[in-house]
Amino acid sequence: MITDLVTRSDHPAAPDPTRSDLADHRHRPRRLRRSPALRRLARETRLHPAQLIAPLFVLPGRDREEPIASVPGHARLSPDRALRRATELAELGVGGVLLFGLPAAKDPEGRAAADPDGPVPETLRRLRDAGLPLVSVADVCLCEYTTHGHCGVVVGGEIANDPSLPRLVEAAVAYATAGADVVAPSAMLDGQVAAIRAGLDAAGHTGTAILAYASKHASALYAPFREAADSAPAFGDRRSYQLDPANGRAALRELALDAAEGADALMVKPALTSLDLLARARERFDLPLAAYHVSGEVAMLEAAAERGWLDRRAVGLEQLTAIVRAGADWIVTYLAADAARWLAEER
Ligand code: PBG
Ligand code: ZN
Repeated sequence: MITDLVTRSDHPAAPDPTRSDLADHRHRPRRLRRSPALRRLARETRLHPAQLIAPLFVLPGRDREEPIASVPGHARLSPDRALRRATELAELGVGGVLLFGLPAAKDPEGRAAADPDGPVPETLRRLRDAGLPLVSVADVCLCEYTTHGHCGVVVGGEIANDPSLPRLVEAAVAYATAGADVVAPSAMLDGQVAAIRAGLDAAGHTGTAILAYASKHASALYAPFREAADSAPAFGDRRSYQLDPANGRAALRELALDAAEGADALMVKPALTSLDLLARARERFDLPLAAYHVSGEVAMLEAAAERGWLDRRAVGLEQLTAIVRAGADWIVTYLAADAARWLAEER
């Protein structure tokens, strides 16, 4: 054909500089992207509902449910409602729940954190009695229970480290006694994992695991959570105990210390601003690694989706997949229930 001749004379033997022989004949990465079946086979990261942990906020009483404006789709629940919610999560195949409590009353020492009649222990007992195929994790901190909203006790205007440890230990022991499979200290106080391990063992709870919030940055992305948990500090901020967001080596040191103190699993938080840490931690530690996809990360997605600027489902799954690709085994996420539904539909 004429066009063939023209083409040939236009391009004599000279090679096209934009297409080397190698590119033409050997390296064609697109071969494994040609069909949905090929893409599914070649997929490196698979998200599964069992690796997701749903946060639950519990308050005292019965049949109570207070929607949380800053975290759409979530509510503060009384223990009976929380059990109902956990049952739905278990049916969806979600791996676990992480409990935060809102006490009836607060004091400067956060003593209600260890109250065996508080909403967290009550919910834990209900979960244990129900025998759901779901891991119960109890957050261990004082900020929801102290009048000043800090994660430890305050002495002379400072968050005192060692005087806070017995309060955290008492709370952890109360949760283990109520049936928590895992306790998750989140105060970022030095030595909290060692103290809690020793306290649990001394109380006979040698089988209760510790998921350490090991690398927790002082992030502005926790704002919606603090509204949900009524835990905003009344003065100052958390920068004297949580990590400077600029620091990665310091974060790895915190992870190493918590592993040495006896943590059974390590958490990094927030998730999407710590993908570098997840990748480095994955290389360094053989313990399970968790990432907390925090309230502010979801708030940005919810707000954009509400405006029609982002596809909530597509972006949500993309974010969770990236967190696993970076190295997380488990993800604490407000999207747990939705993601489990989306994943079931994909299969
Ligand atoms: C408090 C705690 C916080 C979160 C989990 N535990 C907030 C904080 O440090 O003020 C944040 C979770 C989220 O933003 O979803 N110990
Ligand atoms: Zn706290």
